[in-house]
Amino acid sequence: MTQRVLTGITTTGTLHLGNYVGAIRPAIAASREPGVESFYFMADYHALIKCDEPDRVARSRLEITATWIAAGLDPERTLIYRQSDIPEIPELTWLLTCVTAKGQMNRAHAYKGAVDANVAAGEDPDAGISMGLFSYPILMAADILMFNAHRVPVGKDQVQHLEMARDVAQRFNHLFCPPDAPLFVLPEVQVEAEMELLPGLDGRKMSKSYDNVVPLFVGGSKALKDAIARIVTDSKLPGEPKEPEGQALVTIFDAFATPAERAAFRAELRAGLAWGEAKQRLFDQIERQIGPMRAKYDELMAHPDKLEAILQQGAAKARALAGPLLARAREAVGLRSFSAPLKSDVSSKGDGKAALPVFKQYREADGKFYFKLNAADGATLLQSEAFEAGRDAGQWVARLKREGAAALAGAPVRQLGEAAAVAAALQALLQAE
Ligand code: TRP
Repeated sequence: MTQRVLTGITTTGTLHLGNYVGAIRPAIAASREPGVESFYFMADYHALIKCDEPDRVARSRLEITATWIAAGLDPERTLIYRQSDIPEIPELTWLLTCVTAKGQMNRAHAYKGAVDANVAAGEDPDAGISMGLFSYPILMAADILMFNAHRVPVGKDQVQHLEMARDVAQRFNHLFCPPDAPLFVLPEVQVEAEMELLPGLDGRKMSKSYDNVVPLFVGGSKALKDAIARIVTDSKLPGEPKEPEGQALVTIFDAFATPAERAAFRAELRAGLAWGEAKQRLFDQIERQIGPMRAKYDELMAHPDKLEAILQQGAAKARALAGPLLARAREAVGLRSFSAPLKSDVSSKGDGKAALPVFKQYREADGKFYFKLNAADGATLLQSEAFEAGRDAGQWVARLKREGAAALAGAPVRQLGEAAAVAAALQALLQAE
């Protein structure tokens, strides 16, 4: 069976090297594996939680789309879309919200962190916290469950959200689906084992909020070089042996190097390589991989209409999958068409499963009366001749119901279904009487 791999990036700010190493690169690598169907999306509804600057949201989602495609994502092979182009996602979010325990959301790191910060500052615990932030994990669960993703490559900081998505899926399946036909796949989290969190310039996790990022494309090779120059090292002089382990510079190097290159770099540092030289090596190492992508990125940013067309196509493909799943979810929770029989009516007749065949009597434009027998699936099994009087048609229906297949001989009907299907249908009606 094909594995579905799905990931999203919140479209705030500008992407940095940590995003590339932690999310984009592994996801693109996964998309190239055989037997994999991949989904990538701009989490722009999530962006609204963190950012109330419309122009920044608008710019960021454009930049992020360009980044992923420049980094090697193939829109022909994979599904790439904006979360906000898929109205099925917020609808599913609500269905999931109704089966999510509030207590579990209270424990979500992002929310808890905000509460702790408020308390520490002597503020009201929920000061400045929106319901969007609180419900963030449910929207994320909907992103994933909407497409029944099997695997979700994310940074380590997202592991808890994946656990929550699994819990919500399980709960929905348990409440609304037969045990042998769950609606939602339980997604597996995939954390890059080696490079869980790339360190930033100061050695803490690379993050916009610490102002310690290395930009990915924006600002060109100069911005990359300038950022690398700001990486904090120890104060060992050129020629002095240096301990590579624990240095942010080395860890960043590792993320772009083969095992042999990593070993060689360490050996040079231990032999006294100057930090300035080491930074030049790091720059060359990254630029060799990122430079060609940056050129493609610049070209895409100059033609946003191309990106728009790619995303519209992606949204159409994604909605073709989301629509039917959402329909099943609505059906499961009881948001059903009034024209469909109610389940409790069916089960009150003694069977919870199969609907029964039905006789239908009707009058045609020719003024004559007819009846037919339809199987439970709607296929016509018997078609009567024309009757001058409705009563005669009714009497034949009553007799067929009462006597079953025995009354078929001599009945003024044409058999349209297989003889066995007709007999079975009449038998089912006999038993239901
Ligand atoms: N919350 C994720 C982040 O900040 C982004 C995201 C939103 C996501 N929906 C998702 C990631 C679904 C994976 C799957 O990184």
